[in-house]
Amino acid sequence: MGSEAETVTLRKPRFLCLHGFRTSGEILKTQVTMKWPESVTRKLDLVYLDAPFPCQGKSDVEGIFDPPYYEWFQFNKEFTEYTNFDECLAYIEDYMIKNGPFDGLLGFSQGAILSAGLPGLQAQGLTFTKVPKIKFLIIVGGAKFRAASLADKAYSTPIQCPSLHFLDPVVIHHPKGHTIPRLDEKGLQIMESFLERIQKMAFLTPIPSLSIRAFCTKPSAKMADRAVQIQNPDSISYLTQREAAEIDEILMGPLGFSVDQLMELAGLSVAASIAERVLAICGPGNNGGDGLVAARHLYHFGYKPSVCYPKRTPKPLYSGLVTQLESLSVPFLSVEDLPLDLSKDFDILVDAMFGFSFHGIPRPPFDDLIQRLVSLRDHDQTHQKSPVIVSIDIPSGWHVEEGDIGGEGIKPDMLVSLTAPKLCAKKFCGPQHFLGGRFVPPSVADKYKLRLPPYPGTSMCVRIGKAPKIDISALRENYISPELLEEQVEADPIDQFCKWFDDAVAASLKEPNAMALSTAGKDGKPSSRMVLLKGVDKDGFVWYTNYDSRKAHDLSDNPHASLLFYWDGLNRQVRVEGSVQRVSDEESEQYFHSRPRGSQIGAIVSKQSTVVPGRHVLLQQHKELEEKFSDGSLIPKPKHWGGYRLKPELFEFWQGQKSRLHDRAADQNILSILRVDVILCLVVNLVIKLNVMSDLSLQYSPHEINGQQVWKIERLAP
Ligand SMILES: Cc1cc2nc3c(=O)[nH]c(=O)nc-3n(C[C@H](O)[C@H](O)[C@H](O)COP(=O)(O)O)c2cc1C
Repeated sequence: MGSEAETVTLRKPRFLCLHGFRTSGEILKTQVTMKWPESVTRKLDLVYLDAPFPCQGKSDVEGIFDPPYYEWFQFNKEFTEYTNFDECLAYIEDYMIKNGPFDGLLGFSQGAILSAGLPGLQAQGLTFTKVPKIKFLIIVGGAKFRAASLADKAYSTPIQCPSLHFLDPVVIHHPKGHTIPRLDEKGLQIMESFLERIQKMAFLTPIPSLSIRAFCTKPSAKMADRAVQIQNPDSISYLTQREAAEIDEILMGPLGFSVDQLMELAGLSVAASIAERVLAICGPGNNGGDGLVAARHLYHFGYKPSVCYPKRTPKPLYSGLVTQLESLSVPFLSVEDLPLDLSKDFDILVDAMFGFSFHGIPRPPFDDLIQRLVSLRDHDQTHQKSPVIVSIDIPSGWHVEEGDIGGEGIKPDMLVSLTAPKLCAKKFCGPQHFLGGRFVPPSVADKYKLRLPPYPGTSMCVRIGKAPKIDISALRENYISPELLEEQVEADPIDQFCKWFDDAVAASLKEPNAMALSTAGKDGKPSSRMVLLKGVDKDGFVWYTNYDSRKAHDLSDNPHASLLFYWDGLNRQVRVEGSVQRVSDEESEQYFHSRPRGSQIGAIVSKQSTVVPGRHVLLQQHKELEEKFSDGSLIPKPKHWGGYRLKPELFEFWQGQKSRLHDRAADQNILSILRVDVILCLVVNLVIKLNVMSDLSLQYSPHEINGQQVWKIERLAP
């Protein structure tokens, strides 16, 4: 089952959209977006492609839509002879290989002729041999190939896959002729049931591992070689000042980065590392620019940054950053405006004064600012609250290679090294050391023999060294989320679930379909485990498993179960309770055969929840079965494997909200909260001036009104 968790991702049905003769992908997109309701378009992943040939004559849409216009192929008056037809097919296939996989084709006019004919040609092995089978069609237009040789092949059998036609045979009426039709009530109904059908099919179809390559979080073998254990800071490369300067030169020279880009990336990684009420103290150089960028990202992440930027640099890059912050009303505080005691107004101080190219002794006003940061540590020793100090790349005033020479410099709590840590970072003793600046290309890493930790997933920074011991009870996230109001939620909880599920997919959360399933057998003792949702509709929530497993035994003793989805990043939780039944054998068969063959064999091998003599036994059985079915023959679904469907009887939707002031009253004088994945560093013992709102929770339970079952929505205390 674990292998399934690695390879299956849920998605919307993905269509390649082929526009009409002498129009363009953009024009088709405009039409579809304008004419079809959002309730339809949001259920589809539509990709619009321009045809390969520039328009070779007058376009019917001149004066209505702007050029450029394109055509797929050329033809004679009778539409019986085609020019550039093979080139057109090769062009579409090439696009599908590079940008696929696609589930279906949506075609309009000339694009519709192609879409209607391609599945037949593909079935006969005449085209699209290197891409997956076209599974769905939406055809807006009724014309067909008239060249006998082509039509015979393309239409030798009726279209096999689910398809939606707007003409011939008319399924959705097309009242205004040659255009994308608006959907009347009946049309919308037909469209919706078509979408429901194909969504279920796309939902049940795993994305081939090739297509998720780009999102794979595992480093490549080469990167993995270079990647080192993040727990051991001694095994990481540290840069001298000269090396750091050289790498910057390479990045900004042959590798084509601009200062602006590097500053954006650096600032983003700093912002991703921190949170809360922040004061960014920015120096005149690039380090200061990183601080300005970090402040801008922090604003957009929902926090309250202020900036102290006493020596502004008049270059466009810097004045642009200042304008951006001013437009967000981020306060700029002069040194004189700063409160004497920085600990009162700020949770975090970002030291962005000097970077690795700084030499010598800091001059006013930075000498004073550095001193203020230093004295905060004395403050700390008197057991008063103290803000966290985060230094970007180099703690200001430190020697780039020797560190804090006199021992009287800033002692940051957190250091965000960029590109690779500089030598002085070896002397850093604070609890949080991160590496940001995820832009070092392998060529540079090879040249400088850099051993750097792999970045987790899509994170912009990675921890170096062990996470400090933390007080688990103090771990808490400051949720910034939309409100959850009764009047805004869907009347039907399944619709509400699908809406939130779509949000989770759109937010690119990892395995949004992972859910905790809790069961209890005869003895009433509950047990939970994760499973993957494989389908949801008005009938309930479906997952697949082994019918001899512990959960299966529980369910045959007691069919009541609970599902729990938790979407980190959206701060949402959905609880669904109900009774469970096995899905039909046919449904299990259909899903079983849609899985990768390796997973099918895995399901035969795994006698889930039973004790095995050793991993080697499973591997041996797996190997034997792989050989047995190496001829590509059908792998029979084992009897002990199949699906369950939970029919919901109760739903609870929970939305985390901003701030939990009451929780923050604990008077601990320690730097203590850490979010392990995204690296959130903040202080617990400060009064946070955020709006106080409680987390929100809505429950849907079935009620009968006038003999009809309806869902009653009630607010629960969070
Ligand atoms: C993210 C994730 C997804 C999983 N998906 C499934 C699944 O879809 N079906 C399944 O049988 N086990 C799945 N597992 C494994 C189960 O959690 C569990 O270990 C296994 O089903 C045995 O459970 P049981 O002994 O309680 O019956 C998954 C585990 C994880 C961590």
